[in-house]
Amino acid sequence: MSSEYAILQLGDEKVELPIQIGTEGNRVIDIAKLYGETGYITLDDAFANTGATTSAITYIDGEKGILRYRGYPIEEIAERCEITETAYLLIYGELPTAEQLETFRTNIRAHKLLHEGMKTIFAGFPPDAHPMAILSSVVGALAIYCPDSLEPSDPQQCELAIFRMLGKMSTIAAFSFKQSIGRPFIYPQNNLTYCQNFLRMMFAVPSEEYEMDPDFVSALNLLLVLHADHGQNCSTSTVRMVGSSTVNLFSSVSAGICALWGAFHGGANEACINMLEGIHADNDNLGKHIDRAKDPNDNYRLMGFGHRVYKNYDPRATIIKETCHKLLEKNNLKNPIFEIALELEEVALSDSYFIERKLYPNVDFYSGIIYNLMGIPKQMFTVIFALGRLPGWIAHWREMHLAPGGMRIHRPRQLYTGSTERKFVPLIKR
Ligand code: SDX
Repeated sequence: MSSEYAILQLGDEKVELPIQIGTEGNRVIDIAKLYGETGYITLDDAFANTGATTSAITYIDGEKGILRYRGYPIEEIAERCEITETAYLLIYGELPTAEQLETFRTNIRAHKLLHEGMKTIFAGFPPDAHPMAILSSVVGALAIYCPDSLEPSDPQQCELAIFRMLGKMSTIAAFSFKQSIGRPFIYPQNNLTYCQNFLRMMFAVPSEEYEMDPDFVSALNLLLVLHADHGQNCSTSTVRMVGSSTVNLFSSVSAGICALWGAFHGGANEACINMLEGIHADNDNLGKHIDRAKDPNDNYRLMGFGHRVYKNYDPRATIIKETCHKLLEKNNLKNPIFEIALELEEVALSDSYFIERKLYPNVDFYSGIIYNLMGIPKQMFTVIFALGRLPGWIAHWREMHLAPGGMRIHRPRQLYTGSTERKFVPLIKR
């Protein structure tokens, strides 16, 4: 704790508020005792300027476009790490030794299968059910099928829940796709890597051998790693909020999946491809869409653009854009949707509306181009974001439960603006 204070003047009274300093030098005013000492709360719509917790997992400098997992630059992690290694780093705080990594992988593989009874849950969904809705429902149902790993205060049950969550989520994700296209489920195979397994469960059919493209395996790994954590974003904050009631990991993650689905968050990757395809269908009329995005009377927005924290290029978008170029060049392909995305970025970044507001492409702007190339249907884009984000959700849930001062339920206050006390009018007199 630093000895610095901020002074808040409330009428004649001066209140000293401690300043906490993060390891990267960021300073925050600690207002935890403000209400108790003064009766005042702070008001911060949409938590735009609120630090909800301390966290040692991910560092973001939105002004400079810097992202680090546990201190390691995202560029280095993306180039060198496999998703399970990244998950270990995020959850436990250090890069694993070869032995630790092998044990971690074995534990995840051991939990990839679903209880056979769970197949009936999938069967009950209509064929056009969105896979994100299926994912959150079936992940929520894990709390029914795994009753011996629900207690967050029991370290052994926590570890079991973590392995089960990491093992089963990719199986649930792939099954939700198979269900939506009416094809048989493909069971996981333990001799495959995490990404190989997922692609096989997605695209193999029992009647044929499945050959996978190693470039797609690497691209999927890259996308999962890039999505693995991002501080106190909406879905992670949801996982923390829900988890703070001491509910189990499965229910907390299920809530996070729901939060991710919205188009202002992870759902932007699907919405972005829909937008780019819409522009293409509209004779590549970029100007019309840019004008609509700038119109204050139109709630249309450029999807995959803008960010609460980044006021610079999202470093993940830089890597994804480069990967689009590489994959397309290697396969000697031209992709009209990618061409539109590039042009849209160029036009937007030279337009004063976007420059003044510091709106740049975010992680969701180019990712759909790669998913498209891999043959992954649009409705699965956000499911893959969820698969990537899972280690981050788990890391935050675990960090919250292990917090040195103990965990408290999350419970924001409000400024009440409704009616003052009034007299009840009986139904007959209204
Ligand atoms: C993710 O938080 C995370 O870390 C999220 C994420 C993660 O990894 O977890 O990075 C993943 O969710 C990425 C974001 C995906 N969403 C989109 O791409 C949807 C489109 N973008 C936005 O709607 C918006 O930019 C948000 C939701 C991302 C951020 O919203 P903010 O911080 O509340 O910003 P704002 O809505 O207050 O916008 C500020 C100004 C406004 O103009 P003015 O009222 O000041 O005139 O910028 C404008 C907005 O109208 N603006 C846009 C715009 N985004 C913001 N105008 C046109 N197109 C856009 N995309």
